Amino acid sequence: MSSSLERSRRSIRSHLIAAAALVLLPGAALAQSSMPGIGRPATAKEIAAWDIDVRPDINGQPKGAGSVAQGQDVWEGKCAQCHGVFGESNEVFSPLVGGTTAEDIKTGRVAKLTDTSYPGRTTLMKVSSVSTLWDYINRAMPWTQPKSLKTDEVYAVTAYLLNMGGVVPDNYVMSDKNIAEVQARLPNRNGMTLDHGMWPGKAMKTAGKPDVQATACMANCVPEPKVASFLPEFARNAHGNLAEQNRLVGAQRGADTTRPAGGGAAAVAAPAMAKAPDATAATAALLSKYSCTACHGMDTKLVGPAFREIARKYADKADGVAHLAGKIQSGGSGVWGQIPMPPQTLTDTEARMIGRWLVDGAKQ
Ligand code: HEC
Ligand code: HEC
Repeated sequence: MSSSLERSRRSIRSHLIAAAALVLLPGAALAQSSMPGIGRPATAKEIAAWDIDVRPDINGQPKGAGSVAQGQDVWEGKCAQCHGVFGESNEVFSPLVGGTTAEDIKTGRVAKLTDTSYPGRTTLMKVSSVSTLWDYINRAMPWTQPKSLKTDEVYAVTAYLLNMGGVVPDNYVMSDKNIAEVQARLPNRNGMTLDHGMWPGKAMKTAGKPDVQATACMANCVPEPKVASFLPEFARNAHGNLAEQNRLVGAQRGADTTRPAGGGAAAVAAPAMAKAPDATAATAALLSKYSCTACHGMDTKLVGPAFREIARKYADKADGVAHLAGKIQSGGSGVWGQIPMPPQTLTDTEARMIGRWLVDGAKQ
């Protein structure tokens, strides 16, 4: 790479950093005077809405408190359906608790991380700063309703997770005041190193270079790319129509594999959900709201059976709607295989609506 290109990249980066710093400055009037005509200073409220991160050194940790007992309520109401009653996460999601010992709490290094015979790596085994755990829950969980927890609930549920891992006692109340005390007991607190070539590693400073050093090609580059593999004709529709196997949000882009390739515009699927009648659209919204689609595909078996498969099985059952609504709410196992479906928290009306949609053929 030419050094001038490298320099110009650096200077672009430093401009971006400077611009970001200006926006975040409380005296943001500065931004206006140094870049006249560009935007306006962010208001204090806008900055507050953005500025929710907490740092590994616990800087930015909001005031609040929550007990292990309160955390258990939050956990059982909003987390256990995906992560399991004890954070063991059944068979679907990765386990959060387990694999740490009282000895690890003393040493600050989880011994099982270097034991290749140990089957998994739980969150409590890996996380080296408690504010990261707090921050992640605060911004991303519950998966289906991120940022819905109150600050005190985040403290409570974090305390509960740590209690399940033996890090804090049953009667503990975790808060912004004692979070440093909790950090000092985190099983893998000494498990992080900065001695590597990635930002912000020490080797970055000494070598002045990141660990990945690609050479950008500006002239005489490799000619035309060669197609090394493609979907053969016989396999075209082997796993159902790819066009229908997209997420429910965003544009639908899969090729319609029920037709031969190269069919022009007609072979590209029309946005399937867009034209759906209201009841179907409302059901689709429920399936995405409750993350059913994380485990169920329309035509493909994922963790659970495909919705169309369920529809076929219950098409001519007289009490199909009530039966399915009940199963959705209570969960179950053994009908489609060994993997259990956790109970789903939705209203009777919502469960019946999905049941009706299934019995009617799971149309899109
Ligand atoms: C609908 C299912 C669902 C619910 C409910 C849910 N989670 Fe999660 N959780 C996930 C998924 C999926 C991931 C992995 C997300 C990813 O990697 O992008 C995850 C990841 C996590 C992680 C990080 C795991 C790691 O090691 O990276 C934590 C901690 C966590 N969840 C805590 C919670 C807490 C606390 C609650 C309740 C307030 C909750 N979750 C509710 C699905 C869920
Ligand atoms: C964590 C993954 C997961 C989530 C989330 C999930 N399911 Fe399931 N579901 C499964 C599995 C696994 C089965 C198969 C259970 C069995 O074999 O009895 C299943 C089975 C079903 C069945 C068939 C029940 C039967 O007895 O034949 C229906 C209907 C169903 N799910 C609907 C839903 C709906 C609606 C949602 C969202 C509200 C949902 N599922 C969320 C995994 C999941």
